[in-house]
Amino acid sequence: MKLQVFENYEQVSKHAAQILIEACRRQPQLVLGLATGSTPIGMYQEMIAAYQQGKVDFSRVTTFNLDEYYPIAPEHPQSFRRFMQEQLFDHVNINPEGIHFLCGTVQDIEQECRRYEEAIEAAGGIDIQVLGIGENGHIGFNEPGTPFHLGTHKVKLTETTIQANSRFFERMEDVPRFALTMGIRTIMHSRKLLLLANGEKKAAAIRAALNGPVTEDLPASVLQLHPDVTVIVDKAAAHLLEEVPDVL
Ligand code: F6R
Repeated sequence: MKLQVFENYEQVSKHAAQILIEACRRQPQLVLGLATGSTPIGMYQEMIAAYQQGKVDFSRVTTFNLDEYYPIAPEHPQSFRRFMQEQLFDHVNINPEGIHFLCGTVQDIEQECRRYEEAIEAAGGIDIQVLGIGENGHIGFNEPGTPFHLGTHKVKLTETTIQANSRFFERMEDVPRFALTMGIRTIMHSRKLLLLANGEKKAAAIRAALNGPVTEDLPASVLQLHPDVTVIVDKAAAHLLEEVPDVL
């Protein structure tokens, strides 16, 4: 596991974007796994800036996002699909046909999860999967206690998550109670993983994920078993680690 500590969020975002941009230059048909949430927003902005300056061409890139609420329509203002349009896809030249999402309106959930796994496989697997981390150590929507062997599946959101999400919805009853997510198995099949975290609030989860035992109670701890993980954090998120490397 490679750990890189930067001074602040801006540096984390720049460095993470640089890794993706360089990978895309080396391999234009890159298959990227992407995350939503606040952490990767800065990285997406750096990717957009690089594209606008003509430094990178995303036209042959394929993307798979980690997760989506269920039920939710893709065009709903709070859907992860919409988030990605607004934060990245609308501003770069990724071919819309190369964008893959779990669909939050399907009837047959098992089939949808199978379809997603098959689409990832048909694309040749994910080259680089970007991950954020929850304060409880979750990755994707894989909350503590999720078995490591699960592929893409439906999850029931915890009351705390529903409460936290409610700030984005007009009415409490509009907040989705479920989500579809790549499983730990799906994530671990990616060739390379990029875990990003910033801020003091993530410090305990980062310590547990990197220095603690590998346990389903702390989903991100599974990353210790992956052969190619780069953890990119700011000083605040790193400060509880047993050994903090020099700031880059
Ligand atoms: C997002 C996702 C989540 C987030 C995590 C951190 O697609 O799957 O695991 O990465 O909840 O969220 P932020 O970045 O908002 O702190």
